Amino acid sequence: MSLVQWINLTDIGDERGALVVAESNINVPFSIERIYYIFNTKQDVPRGFHAHHGLKQVAVCLSGSCRMLLDDGQCKEHALLDSPVKGLVVDKLIWHEMYDFSEDCVLLVLADAHYDEADYIRDYDEFLGVVNV
Ligand code: TYD
Repeated sequence: MSLVQWINLTDIGDERGALVVAESNINVPFSIERIYYIFNTKQDVPRGFHAHHGLKQVAVCLSGSCRMLLDDGQCKEHALLDSPVKGLVVDKLIWHEMYDFSEDCVLLVLADAHYDEADYIRDYDEFLGVVNV
């Protein structure tokens, strides 16, 4: 199965403009407990470089574009986030790195839990140890 899993965030807008809805356990495959977004990023400054023990997330590029590397410890795949109607599922135990940010990139992330630093795996070798047991 591909590491790159998209959810369709359908545009239900009309002649006045676009309207996209994300709802817990309807088109988002979990209960949304937190949202955060990043912007004013720099094209040559990648970020992420971690996995989560339990957190599930969906990332949507609301403006501009960026790329994300997804790595399950066996395979690596790259995804282009360039549409506000495409949500990229970032499951637990997926090492991810975001890069190639366009100047106007606004990346929204929906998450199924509150922020918890203890849920992060920030060391790649530790990540490989957790997933490849
Ligand atoms: P981090 O998740 O490492 O950012 P990125 O993956 O985009 O590189 O978070 C950066 C900092 O912000 C880190 O010190 C943790 C803090 N943070 C919070 O306090 N709450 C949050 O919800 C998030 C996502 C980060």
